[in-house]
Amino acid sequence: MVIRRAGLADLAALAALEAASFVCDGVSRRAMAGFLRSPAALVLLDEEGAGAALRGHLVLRFHARHRIARVYSIAVAAAAMGQGVGRALVASAELAARARGSAAVRLEISVDNAPSQALFRACGYQVFGHYDDYYEDGGAALRLQKML
Ligand SMILES: CC(C)(COP(=O)(O)OP(=O)(O)OC[C@H]1O[C@@H](n2cnc3c(N)ncnc32)[C@H](O)[C@@H]1OP(=O)(O)O)[C@@H](O)C(=O)NCCC(=O)NCCS
Repeated sequence: MVIRRAGLADLAALAALEAASFVCDGVSRRAMAGFLRSPAALVLLDEEGAGAALRGHLVLRFHARHRIARVYSIAVAAAAMGQGVGRALVASAELAARARGSAAVRLEISVDNAPSQALFRACGYQVFGHYDDYYEDGGAALRLQKML
């Protein structure tokens, strides 16, 4: 597993994986380009080897005023699911958040997304709230958090 910070050269692959992973509410190509350029965001990716196929990515955002980092998106390619890529991306994101002085990592997960809920619970995240009508399609989300 080769996890590294993504750059603008990875934009096409990142946007393609988002499009393949989310029917709606995925990160657009334009938004992903913004995250790649922003000092308040970190995009991590896992690839099979230097220049090889993208196996997964995670977008982490930092708040200017709060010591809370937020997983804005995580996606693993269908062919790479179930092999620990998601778990490794989450662990790398936590290390990066700690290095930036974050005290906690938070994210929202659809109430219908059992695989993602299982991944984050396995990584030690706990539900601390929920939002009704959170997604474009009106679906609800759980709010999860892990103290670092
Ligand atoms: C959710 C997602 C990122 C998981 O990535 P992954 O690389 O397949 O997950 P891992 O292999 O690292 O799994 C780690 C743990 O998560 C849990 N898990 C992952 N996928 C699961 C599934 N389909 N069913 C149940 N548990 C699952 C398990 O506890 C697993 O541990 P184990 O392998 O020891 O049983 C991936 O399924 C995905 O990209 N889904 C589509 C996009 C998405 O829904 N993103 C999340 C938005 S909030």
